Amino acid sequence: MPTKHTDFILLRAIRKQPVERTPLWIMRQAGRYLPEYRKVRNAHDFLSICKTPALAAEVTLQPLRRFELDAAILFSDILLLPEALGVKLEFIENRGPRLWPRILNDKSLRILTPERVGERLRFMSEAVRLVLSELAGEKPLIGFCGSPFTLAAYMTEGTPTRNLKYIKTMIYKEPRLLERLLEMLTAAVIECLTLQISAGVHVVQIFDTWGGILPGHLYERFSARYMKEIVRSIQPLAVPVILFSKGGLDLIKALADSKADMLGVDWMTDMADARDVAGNAAALQGNLDPGALYGNKATVSGEVKKILDVFENDSGHVFNLGHGIMPDTPLDMVTYLIDEVYKQSEAHHSLHKS
Ligand code: CP3
Repeated sequence: MPTKHTDFILLRAIRKQPVERTPLWIMRQAGRYLPEYRKVRNAHDFLSICKTPALAAEVTLQPLRRFELDAAILFSDILLLPEALGVKLEFIENRGPRLWPRILNDKSLRILTPERVGERLRFMSEAVRLVLSELAGEKPLIGFCGSPFTLAAYMTEGTPTRNLKYIKTMIYKEPRLLERLLEMLTAAVIECLTLQISAGVHVVQIFDTWGGILPGHLYERFSARYMKEIVRSIQPLAVPVILFSKGGLDLIKALADSKADMLGVDWMTDMADARDVAGNAAALQGNLDPGALYGNKATVSGEVKKILDVFENDSGHVFNLGHGIMPDTPLDMVTYLIDEVYKQSEAHHSLHKS
C-alpha cells in the first residue's frame, strides 16, 4: 500500500517514473454496464446521484470493488458546471442531456452567473471527501471537467443537433461572442478543478469530447488555447493534468505543447503515431477501442498487445479505453481485459529488467 500519494502507480506512470506494470482505469468505469449501478439508478435519477454525496461516493466506488483498477474517478458529469452557471439541465431517458435556454447571443450570455459556481458545486467537494475517506489512501481519485469548447457546444446546441447548427453558427457568425463564452467557461473550469483539488483529488482530466468537430486550423483558437490556459493556471497546485481530446492525431499534435502531464489518445488514433508526435512532452493514456470489448478474448488480447508493445517497459503510459465504456459491455470481457493488461505488462517489465 502506498505510504504517500506520490507512490500510486498511476502517478508514477504519469510522471514517467519506474513502474512494475502498466496502470489502468476505464473511462466511464462507473455506470450502466454495472448491475450494481443500475440498481442505484432504479431508485434515483442520474442528477440526484451526482448531487447526493453519499450516492455519488457509493457509485464511484462500485467499479473498484469488482475490478482491479488503479484509480477511482469521481461520479459526476461535465454538464453540472453549465448548470452551476445558471443553465437548466435535465437528462432525458435514452436520449441524453438537454440544456436551456440556449446561449446564443449577448442577452443569453448575461443570464450566466459565474460568481455562484463555487457555492453551487459544494456537493462535489463533499463527494470527493467522502470517496477519499472510503479509499483510505489505497487508490488515487481522479477529478474532471469538460473543456470550455465542449461545454460551449452543449450550451449552444441544447441537445446536440445532427449538423451542430448552433455552435457552427457561433463559430462563423459570432466568433467574438463565442470567445466571450469560452473565456467565462475557462474561469469556471479553473474554479471547478481548483475546488476538486482542494477537496483532495490526486489527478484531474479535462474532457475535450467535442474539440474534434472543429476544422484543424480553428482548433487552437476555439479549444486548445483555453485548455492550455487551464493547465497553466492549475499547475501551481501540483496535481497532474490529463487532456483527453477526441478527433485523431492532429489533436495530439496540437496539444503536444500544452504542458499537460498526460494526453488521452482516442481509439481512432494509432498509439505508435501518437507517441511519435507527443515525443517526450507528455505521458499517454489509452487507447483500446471500446468496441473491442464486443469481440472475443483472443482479439482483446491481441489489441492489448498492440498498445503495450508501443511502450515496451517504458513508463509514461496509462492503459485506458479510447473513449467511455459502452452500457452493454459484457462484464466478463472487462475482467479479461484487466487481467490481460496486468499479465502482459508485467511480462514486458520483468523481461526487460532481467
Ligand atoms: O468516468 C466515470 O465513471 C465518471 C463519470 C462520468 C459521467 N460523465 C457519468 C455519466 C464522466 C467522466 C462523464 C463525463 C461526460 N459527461 C462527458 C465527457 C466524456 C465523454 O464521454 O466524452 C460528456 C460528453 C458528458 C455529457 C453526458 N452525460 C452525456 C452526453 C450523457 C448521456 C449519454 C448517455 O450515455 O446516456 C451523460 C449521462 C451520464 N454521465 C451517464 C453517466 C454514468 C449515464 C446516466 C444514466 O445513468 O442514465
